[in-house]
Amino acid sequence: MHPTPDKIMQANHGAWSVGILGAAVTHSVFRHLDPDGATAEELARKAGLSPRGAQALADGLLGLGLITQADGVYRNTPESAHFLIEGNPSYLGEFVLFSFADMTRWSKLPDVARTGVPSTNDTAETPENPFWEKLVTAIANLSAPLAQMAADRLSLNRGDPVRWLDVGGGSGIYSAIWLELNPKAQATQLDWPNVNGIAREFVKKFGVTDRFRTVDGDFHHADFGNSEYDIAIYSHIAHQETPPDNVATFRKFRRALKPGGTLLISDFVLNDDRSGHPFALMFASMMLLQTKGGSTYRKADYRSWLNETGFSSVEFVSTGMPATLIFAR
Ligand SMILES: C[S@@+](CC[C@H](N)C(=O)[O-])C[C@H]1O[C@@H](n2cnc3c(N)ncnc32)[C@H](O)[C@@H]1O
Repeated sequence: MHPTPDKIMQANHGAWSVGILGAAVTHSVFRHLDPDGATAEELARKAGLSPRGAQALADGLLGLGLITQADGVYRNTPESAHFLIEGNPSYLGEFVLFSFADMTRWSKLPDVARTGVPSTNDTAETPENPFWEKLVTAIANLSAPLAQMAADRLSLNRGDPVRWLDVGGGSGIYSAIWLELNPKAQATQLDWPNVNGIAREFVKKFGVTDRFRTVDGDFHHADFGNSEYDIAIYSHIAHQETPPDNVATFRKFRRALKPGGTLLISDFVLNDDRSGHPFALMFASMMLLQTKGGSTYRKADYRSWLNETGFSSVEFVSTGMPATLIFAR
């Protein structure tokens, strides 16, 4: 069989997909197609688009498989209706717009692949980087189902008094969901001050701020305490760190946890032979662009860092999403 260029063409036009989806979300196209669908002319009128623009976006979204078309009427797919209509609890439009705005970063990849370090000082290591202020709420709805899965596994709804430390908690999504589930729980989030401010507003919407404490600081230098917490959370952080920095942080987690306490890690984890979820594999390039020493790490890396820092039981749980949950005790 002759090789076809299909995969190359698809990869080569990735920027088109980000552009079309970003423009559609900007103009609330999915909301305007809900619930009964619309012709391109109707879409143009409802969304305030030019007729030519509405037709091009409808064609592009159809090409991407994000809408359907029958008799000239465009309709949302079940996925688009679920994830791309503003106001739905599962809305991912903020994340789409974040990726759209971040697209120019990728033009630096050839240089960064040569040097091995980002070409700007604007990296994940920069204190109080405004980048996080936009990212943390944009990814909150991606973290939410993971927080729910972890809560189920940790039986948090049993209502036992429980205290946790969320390092780099971002929007505060884990604490918001967990505090709502368990009225006797107490949460502490350690993050940069600018991000903690956003988290306090975010958690307020869940009505649980009285049990949500924030500590401002750089987790590399902060003291996590001694035998204070039942659970510690490290969600979507390990990938921005070097291996020695992860080991140093895991050591502080072990000390901060009560005996028998659980460290929960959520991250994009590869198999030991570096195969894995396509998102996790491509994420290594994102870390190359955004961090001085981060990467996508393998199960074997986590196991060895966790064993070295006193966690004897390490369990990897697939989620059906790009992230893996790791429960270490
Ligand atoms: C990718 S976000 C993850 C947010 C959240 N844990 C989640 O999974 O949705 C990374 C978070 O780590 C925080 N962070 C990164 N480096 C940090 C540092 N050195 N000290 C404190 N917080 C840091 C960022 O402000 C941001 O909130």
